[in-house]
Amino acid sequence: MRLDVFTLFPPWFEWFESQRHVRNAVAAGSELRYHDLRATTPLSAGQVDDSPYGGGAGMVMRVDVIDAALQAAYGDARTGRRIVLLTPSGRMLDDELVTELAAEPDLALICGRYEGVDERVRDHLVTDAVSIGRYVLAGGELAAMVVADAVLRKIPGSLGHADSALEESYSSALEGDPEYPHYTRPPTYRGWDIPEVLVSGDHAKVREWRRDRSRERGDPREERA
Ligand code: ADE
Repeated sequence: MRLDVFTLFPPWFEWFESQRHVRNAVAAGSELRYHDLRATTPLSAGQVDDSPYGGGAGMVMRVDVIDAALQAAYGDARTGRRIVLLTPSGRMLDDELVTELAAEPDLALICGRYEGVDERVRDHLVTDAVSIGRYVLAGGELAAMVVADAVLRKIPGSLGHADSALEESYSSALEGDPEYPHYTRPPTYRGWDIPEVLVSGDHAKVREWRRDRSRERGDPREERA
């Protein structure tokens, strides 16, 4: 996968890029690029935002600034690319969307800042608007890292164990349910025992137990509804 991040703060991603699974994904052939929106702005003095039409507090990121950054990165070869704007009002990120994005050969993440981004970006320049939750961050950078983290760990070779990402919370292998509980040594700690079935050696029983626990935990989204 080629992952392009458009941001006003590329240094934020230095820590992200140093993480093991991200380095593994890069070693396995993924490519990460960061694009500083100020570097390609068509405006003078690195301007990227402006005051909102209709009045109101704060500044709005300009459509021409985002368009220029995409143009510099892709030229006219934008069609077919998945271009995602991170915004609190977007489609809620979940395992289904992560899986969908992880299957893309090219993915672009645009980090919004200030009070918002000119709506014409959403209407004309991107294919998706994605939110990581119903709260507002200072900018899309952390949200982009969340998306990139979740997507890259789905790429074969990024996790230590090949199956780690298959049977985990919200995956189709668990029919969208949260993951079953895990236990490791010691078998007894302060009188807290592990479930006996896990050391029974009966693999079918272990599978059944895990599936039952996973179902039992249910879908927290439904719990809230
Ligand atoms: N930018 C600011 N808040 C956000 C959120 N919750 N999700 C995605 N992008 C954001």
